Amino acid sequence: MKTVLVTRPLPQPVIAALAAAHKVAVRDETGPMSGDEMVAALRRFDAILPTIGDAFSAEIFAQAGQIRTRLLANFGVGYNHIDVAAASAHGIAVTNTPGVLTDTTADLALTLILMTARRAGEGERLLRAGGWTGWHPTQLMGMDVSGKVLGIVGMGRIGEAIARRGHFGFGMKVLFYNRSPKTPDLPARQVGSLAALAAACDVMVVAVPGGAETRHLIDADIFAAMKPTALFINIARGDVVDEAALIAALQAGGIAGAGLDVYEREPVVPEALTRMENVTLLPHLGSATLETRTAMGMLAADNILAFFAGKPLPSPV
Ligand code: DGY
Repeated sequence: MKTVLVTRPLPQPVIAALAAAHKVAVRDETGPMSGDEMVAALRRFDAILPTIGDAFSAEIFAQAGQIRTRLLANFGVGYNHIDVAAASAHGIAVTNTPGVLTDTTADLALTLILMTARRAGEGERLLRAGGWTGWHPTQLMGMDVSGKVLGIVGMGRIGEAIARRGHFGFGMKVLFYNRSPKTPDLPARQVGSLAALAAACDVMVVAVPGGAETRHLIDADIFAAMKPTALFINIARGDVVDEAALIAALQAGGIAGAGLDVYEREPVVPEALTRMENVTLLPHLGSATLETRTAMGMLAADNILAFFAGKPLPSPV
């Protein structure tokens, strides 16, 4: 029987699956672990089930010194908060939870597209504030998405699921930018540069993984290339986008609006964004459904169970 630390409360079936085989401690807090907590956990537990916000950096591994942990089973597909090379240098395996959150995250991208295009947040705020005086023909006119060009940045699993919804569900034409050639299972054209994609689309959605390679991939030049009528959507990681450049583009009318689920310094949301009516802001809800969060937890648990049973890992990083 191994010791396992689960760093956030998770749906009960996940804890039950782990507790049937191992000694499980659940950290009863919703916020990120402090550096001291991470160091202590690395010394004490055979496996840790961390999530976004638990920044297992090279410095933390070095500080821990005598490390007992052999597996970090991340709850989430994105693992840019874990220094995988440093973990591996300390003999720690890393797993993540791909696949199980694809549809749910793609649904949220469409939620942001539609809310922003149709000014739904603005309408709801107006109504709740008691400011609705009745229907009139020019009130809160938004933008149709049908027939518009959807530009996907990063045609991975989630990018393709967004493209499918946009094309088959809402009649959008799909263009995409991807580092390597891709042939997705829908009518879609790959373009050679991000700037070309930015110039051609009406709605741009970012769906690339976070981390050093994609940091500020979307910068002032990309916003400058976009149409002033275009919408910008991010469901990936906040630091893929230069947030200051996004704010400047919105303030200057360089783009028409934005829908954001992620931010550069979560949970900090720049005040300038909160004051803009043409921006939809959500608190990192991409995978937040009961079904999906349970499936993510079960996959993380499966990785832990397989690891200590000497079986192949379902989803190694
Ligand atoms: C993911 O799975 O990467 C979600 O954004 C939660 O971290």
